[in-house]
Amino acid sequence: MSPTLNSLKEIHRWCRNFPGTRPQVREARQFVMSYLGDRPETDIAQLVVSELATNAIRHTRSGLPGGRFGVTLHAGSTLLILAVLDEGGPTAPHLRQAENDDQSGRGLHLVETLTMRWGVHGDEVGRTVWALISLAPAGQAA
Ligand SMILES: Nc1ncnc2c1ncn2[C@@H]1O[C@H](COP(=O)(O)OP(=O)(O)O)[C@@H](O)[C@H]1O
Ligand SMILES: [Mg+2]
Repeated sequence: MSPTLNSLKEIHRWCRNFPGTRPQVREARQFVMSYLGDRPETDIAQLVVSELATNAIRHTRSGLPGGRFGVTLHAGSTLLILAVLDEGGPTAPHLRQAENDDQSGRGLHLVETLTMRWGVHGDEVGRTVWALISLAPAGQAA
């Protein structure tokens, strides 16, 4: 059985690359579940990784044939760093203006709402979109 956050006391980090295809978003969610285990923040982290992985596939070269995206998870006792690495492209991640009844353009607004902070590092050759998620100390609800 894989070690989960609940079973490890020390800070540790997991990284994995995924093919840049839509079904792999589900695999990325599962990767987050494997890392965090069943704890209050797992749903939030899975939503965030879904949005960021979907963006990597939709908006960057990660979604082209042979493209890949990466997920890095790094947790301490009260903070999770979640990052999605893509293969870059001409646009940069930004909060879009809300448009009437438009379901698109909400992903990063959701990330903004669910996380303590998020940000971007890199350029058109490849970007890392990172988010900080607060973790309740062991034994406490979120
Ligand atoms: N990883 C990324 N690389 C380049 N551009 C991105 C990335 N993620 C998001 N973007 C840009 O930011 C915009 C807003 O993203 P988002 O809020 O998820 O809305 P949507 O994906 O529905 O367009 C996108 O339309 C895209 O132009
Ligand atoms: Mg999106």
